[in-house]
Amino acid sequence: MDKFYVTTPIFYVNDKPHIGHAFTSIIADVLARYNKLLGKETFFLTGTDEHGAKITRAAEKSGKEPHQFTEEISDKFKDLTKSLNLSNNFFIRTTDKEIHWPGVFKMWEAIKANDDLYMGEYEGLYCVGHEAFVKKSDLEDGVCSDHQTKPEKIKEQNYFFRLSKYKDKLKKIYKDGVVKIKPQSRANEVLAMLEESEDVSFSRPSKDLKRGITVPGDETQKIYVWADALTNYLSGIGYGRNDDWQKFWPADVQVMGKDILRFHAIIWPAMLLSAGLDLPKALFVHGFLTVDGQKMSKTIGNVIDPIELVEKYGVDPVRYFLMREISSAEDGDFSEKKLKERYNGDLANNLGNLVSRTAKLIETRANGEINFDEKFIDPEAKKKIEDVTEAFDDAIDNFRLHEALASVWDLLSYANSFIDFHKPWAKDEDAEDLLTTLTTVLSIILNAGWLLKPFMPETAEKIFETFGADDDYKSWVGRKFVVKKMEPLFPRLK
Ligand code: MSP
Repeated sequence: MDKFYVTTPIFYVNDKPHIGHAFTSIIADVLARYNKLLGKETFFLTGTDEHGAKITRAAEKSGKEPHQFTEEISDKFKDLTKSLNLSNNFFIRTTDKEIHWPGVFKMWEAIKANDDLYMGEYEGLYCVGHEAFVKKSDLEDGVCSDHQTKPEKIKEQNYFFRLSKYKDKLKKIYKDGVVKIKPQSRANEVLAMLEESEDVSFSRPSKDLKRGITVPGDETQKIYVWADALTNYLSGIGYGRNDDWQKFWPADVQVMGKDILRFHAIIWPAMLLSAGLDLPKALFVHGFLTVDGQKMSKTIGNVIDPIELVEKYGVDPVRYFLMREISSAEDGDFSEKKLKERYNGDLANNLGNLVSRTAKLIETRANGEINFDEKFIDPEAKKKIEDVTEAFDDAIDNFRLHEALASVWDLLSYANSFIDFHKPWAKDEDAEDLLTTLTTVLSIILNAGWLLKPFMPETAEKIFETFGADDDYKSWVGRKFVVKKMEPLFPRLK
């Protein structure tokens, strides 16, 4: 059986989840659900990144015990998985000594055995926001523009990872497309970044970093937080504990935002090469969300809590909005105004109305029943369904999830126009073309429901329920569909 393994980045627990985290997570969930529907054995991993200076400082600021602090925020990210209806198979925490740490030790030892770790002195500027050393040239007036903080000057003894050894190999891998980076523009960025890559500091002195994983055999050093965190993609499926990871590794897609591309496209694959492990097949890099045109920030007070948003609008409208409004690979803007517009327009009017008017028509014009016979499907509509399905699959294969949804809405509009044109309310009850109109529209709706399953699982289920269908589309032909009275899918918002 084919397998599919997809990951999200693991989230820092310095603060509660925001809409950007929801965006990354929903993308991965759609890919997981889509591939599961294709019949693949799917594993979807997400979790929290809990070590490093950034978290320690946030904990100190909160006045709570670091352990309690990280647990509380990690729980909020777990709540997010429930609230967004994510189908993740596991939730990993880097503080989990039994699940995660053995994998980190194993990875460290493998890299060491390959002679890729050496002791050296590091002098540089450390940005806690990035959890990385930054170059002077990356700063504006000495300040990191992403985090609006001055990096700290650090001079210390560290273990270094011989990253430079893998530069040429990685260049070739990306040039030849052996590992796909999507969109292509990000692959070009990586190639440019590789030119400048040097060996990286892979540990920090224990005396400066209280929380973290101690370097095997050296109490004085803690493993660099990114080396620790990246390994979750393996430890989460068993690496270091059992052999199960071999079933799912390499990952089929690793989803991430553009800000952490360097870690995923350079450091992580170099670690894997050093450890003699396969590289992920594809990296999908999405853009950043602003809110009402502004960068999300606590100071501005425009940070959107996705859990509250779901409580207000429902899970599927939030999933739909984020996947439809924001181009998967570009920066995008979130606004509640636009969410309401799409809710009333796309969901209530277009989809909701189509489902309820079709159910009503079947009820009043066909005694609430349709014997689904292919000969009653309009050939032009059939072709439309096939074309849309093809465009949908193609969009997903190319990580253009917003386009996949756009193609479904194209189909829904077609169905609404089809009804308007054929006016089933004005036809003779025993006319064959009445049955053709109703069966055709039902077929469009069931197909659209099928396509929507990865994006809006609850809605798809309600659609199937409305027409008394189970959600196994292979069995639609020859089935009798009996309409059921249901609440409107999306009651209009005021
Ligand atoms: N802990 C690291 C990842 C380690 S993976 C081995 C991290 N965490 S994060 O919480 O800061 O970010 C997690 C994800 O959320 C990243 O993919 C990041 O790009 C994404 N987003 C954070 N802010 C975002 C927006 N404003 N918009 C869209 N996604 C954003 O980085």
